[in-house]
Amino acid sequence: MTDPNPLDTALAPVAGTRATARIEGSRASIILDVSGLDPSEHDALEARVRAAASSVPGIETVRVALTSQRTRRVAIAVASGKGGVGKSTVSANLAIALAARGRRVGLVDADIYGPSQPKLMAVEGSKPTARDKVLQPVATPYGVPLLSMGQLVAPDQAIAWRGPMAAGALGQLMDANWGATDTLVIDLPPGTGDVQLTMIQKHRPAGAVIVSTPQDLALIDARRAIDLFNKAGVPIIGLVENMSGYACPHCGEISNPFGQGGAEAAAGELGIAFLGRIPLDIAIRTASDAGTPPAAGNGPEAAAFATIADAVARWIQTEGR
Ligand SMILES: Nc1ncnc2c1ncn2[C@@H]1O[C@H](COP(=O)(O)OP(=O)(O)O)[C@@H](O)[C@H]1O
Ligand SMILES: [Mg+2]
Repeated sequence: MTDPNPLDTALAPVAGTRATARIEGSRASIILDVSGLDPSEHDALEARVRAAASSVPGIETVRVALTSQRTRRVAIAVASGKGGVGKSTVSANLAIALAARGRRVGLVDADIYGPSQPKLMAVEGSKPTARDKVLQPVATPYGVPLLSMGQLVAPDQAIAWRGPMAAGALGQLMDANWGATDTLVIDLPPGTGDVQLTMIQKHRPAGAVIVSTPQDLALIDARRAIDLFNKAGVPIIGLVENMSGYACPHCGEISNPFGQGGAEAAAGELGIAFLGRIPLDIAIRTASDAGTPPAAGNGPEAAAFATIADAVARWIQTEGR
């Protein structure tokens, strides 16, 4: 056993196991692993490492090289055939529930027609800053940073972007400074338009979650969305049936005015996984309107989202790449 070299001893308290150091004569060569750190932290850490190395007797020059094993980031697209089925509600609550399961989650609101995440995530009116033309996601009270199409335009400005503009805006959201985020949940616009195509072709999501209501009509639309991902070779993680059964606001009993199980049967026919159902529940709507997503609490409404997040987290661990 040789004694630890004085350089290692000096670096341990500032860089832990991130620094690998070598001394040649009066020169210290240090490799600093910054994997998982936010780029904004790199300079400060490097400066501390330099200072610690320079304080070692006999060291005159210090070289530091930064390396990073890029965090593998999975993008999960949340899609539906048509609007109003609860895609944004599912995206917000899925993101929060995945974060509660230990993932580092960011939320991208790519719905150019009706961006609703700033309101759902209680950051309405906040604008992302840009550093070197790269957007910095906005922090939310739920530990899930957010970027939304709604933050790029004034709220009353009708979004009538043509393909290339929408694609450019999506690129800004996707290529933002997501730092150590390992999972991006993407709230897509409804249907199968330009934003979806750009998302699929350029940003290659790891998988897609399809949201549908139990009605057959919505399911026909959902099948179209499923088809789009299938054709592009993007795996379908599974189907979520939203507004499935009606939770009585007085007694909590679930009744089924629109029928129930339609989405589960369709998932079976299509050979895709069924991730879970969320009842039509006035408490979900009021909580959403108030910017307090149910998944952030521990009421009965949170349970449905927890089940879905468990299924998605399992999928990411086994299939997401
Ligand atoms: N399970 C549910 N129970 C009650 N209201 C819901 C539920 N899911 C969504 N909503 C409400 O329905 C409306 C549409 O949902 P939203 O998530 O915005 O749909 P989309 O993004 O598909 O257009 C919102 O007012 C939302 O609060
Ligand atoms: Mg929406």
